[in-house]
Amino acid sequence: MKPMYPSRAFAYANIALIKYWGKYNLEHNIPLVTSLSLTLDNYGTLTTITATDHEHDIFILNNVPQVGLPTIKVQRFLNYIRTQVGSSLKCQVESTNNFPTKSGLASSASGFAALALAAANFYAWDLSKRELSRLARRGSASAARSIFGGLVLLHGGALEETQSYAEPIPAQLDLNMLIVQCSDQEKSVSSTDGMRASAATSPFFPVFVDQQMGDIDSALHAIALKDLVLLGETMEYSTLKMHSCCLSSNPGFCYWNPSTVRIMDAVKKLRKQGAQCYFTMDAGPHVKILCPADQSEEIRAQLINTEGITCIDKAAPGRAAYMLRENET
Ligand code: PMV
Repeated sequence: MKPMYPSRAFAYANIALIKYWGKYNLEHNIPLVTSLSLTLDNYGTLTTITATDHEHDIFILNNVPQVGLPTIKVQRFLNYIRTQVGSSLKCQVESTNNFPTKSGLASSASGFAALALAAANFYAWDLSKRELSRLARRGSASAARSIFGGLVLLHGGALEETQSYAEPIPAQLDLNMLIVQCSDQEKSVSSTDGMRASAATSPFFPVFVDQQMGDIDSALHAIALKDLVLLGETMEYSTLKMHSCCLSSNPGFCYWNPSTVRIMDAVKKLRKQGAQCYFTMDAGPHVKILCPADQSEEIRAQLINTEGITCIDKAAPGRAAYMLRENET
């Protein structure tokens, strides 16, 4: 029987403080290392699923019907759910991001988290949050973390499928994240391709993997002690190691642009002047800056006129992914 109502879910993006880079298992999309992230309260994806009589699932992103790889990924994800619940019902998925798509701003994280929640509901698959995070992980590993709010740990490594899930880390840190957009272009190397190249060719990659649990332990220790200096330093170390794997791949590749480097330098300069701010970058040129909430406006004001940046958005820790009622916005 077709569901009578659309199923609608919203998920916020998250930014990894301690990055994952590399996959242990491609079939189940299990990350090679554990990671730690912060769910944001501004950027996110709204996804609505309705039944369709079409032969295939339809995927519309930001009002544009998709063809090719984006649709294939969504169909593959829905096929997995249908196999699990024994349904053959095809559907239409409409997703809207309130921030630039595919530019290293975590759109796949919020996208697959919202899709997992909306689709599980649509197919009446009753999952715990942990199971939902495992489902979201199949679409994009970082999406597993967006099922939860605040600080979130995603277990990775040589694990069984059931062992790679996300869980929230209780913490009371009055933090903000500034998102400095350094380009409006889509990224040139997808994170999956970048990870594959790094794992296959970078001599630094094994060291990155070896040191990961040490970085995770330091970050968790810093969170427990409310030590932003230790958390920020560990976060910068993690991102620089991840990007070193990209630069040292063969052939090497770089997600940064000149504005990225300008902002990294400016953050270090602000620290010398007494501000508490730390940078991190993902598979794109944008710089995310972790800082105490009460310093974020001043830090933003100091960076806003930096050459080449397109905007600076401010986020606080955000909530878990959630369902919307029929007429709710
Ligand atoms: O899981 P994906 O495909 O969204 O890749 C995420 C890769 C990084 O953002 C660079 C790291 C991370 O842990 O989020």
